[in-house]
Amino acid sequence: MQPADLNMTTTVTGHQLFLFVTLAEGRADGELAEAIDLLGQGMENIHDVDGPPSDKAFALGRFQFLRAETGSTREQQIVHPAVSESHGMVRLECADLKPINEYETSLRTLIEATGGSIETLAGVMRPRSYTSHAMSEFAYAHAMPPGPGEKFPLAAVTPMNKTDEWWQMDFLHRESFFLPRYDENENMVVKGHALASAMGVLSINRRLVHAPEGYGLEGHYDFIGYFEFSEADAPVFREVMAGLRDTEQNPEWKYVVEGPEWWGRRVSGAAAFLGIS
Ligand code: HEM
Repeated sequence: MQPADLNMTTTVTGHQLFLFVTLAEGRADGELAEAIDLLGQGMENIHDVDGPPSDKAFALGRFQFLRAETGSTREQQIVHPAVSESHGMVRLECADLKPINEYETSLRTLIEATGGSIETLAGVMRPRSYTSHAMSEFAYAHAMPPGPGEKFPLAAVTPMNKTDEWWQMDFLHRESFFLPRYDENENMVVKGHALASAMGVLSINRRLVHAPEGYGLEGHYDFIGYFEFSEADAPVFREVMAGLRDTEQNPEWKYVVEGPEWWGRRVSGAAAFLGIS
């Protein structure tokens, strides 16, 4: 289904690739690390950056290495071992797809030459579709800006689909799930997405990408969430996820089918990414 047919925004403001890397045992060495570090030349290493990217950095492309935190990763309804069992992930973002596609092709060549593999999830960045000025103030104006790896060492990736039933709903009906619901006496009966997750606004940096070719299609998740936070706020992230998954408080999740919740630790370079430093 195309965004325009769903009363959702059709604008694309950028591209992201999530390259989940599975390494062959014992094949990662300093030479591979050096070759991987070279791929990022001319691009910005997000690891060291405090705040949102400059237009120039975003135009040239940006990357972040993450090592899998296997103890925290969990399969959900859509079992996807190439993601859940990966050893690490490189997250790429850019205004244009070309530079990060080239990075992906080169990384794939290097990793496959050493017997490993790469699973790529792709998404496009879009302006928000359901958010009023007031909701912007509530959910985004005070939101935690991106920070360097030292400040927010942990990250979680949440690929997910929405069901056909969701996509067949009228947009006003879909929009209503983001707000609380009230009974005839105006008592709140259901929190909805924004209130169910509100405790994360101040402590979790969040980004969301949408399926590049349209929603409800085979071969792509409808949405990929990406969240960064401090060690101390990891329990807050878990609580936010629990709140969203509680369909009594957030009926939207009745229409969500999740891929793995993948956890990683941000690292500064390829040697740490490969686990050899
Ligand atoms: C931390 C606090 C959070 C707040 C305040 C929040 C709020 C919102 C709001 C207001 C929207 C509507 C955006 C629009 O206008 O298009 C939205 C969309 C979305 N959020 Fe959250 N969110 C939070 C956390 C999360 C988390 C942890 C997930 C996890 C998986 C998530 C997944 C999504 C998805 C997939 C959409 C797009 C849904 C659609 O368009 O059907 N959010 N969120």
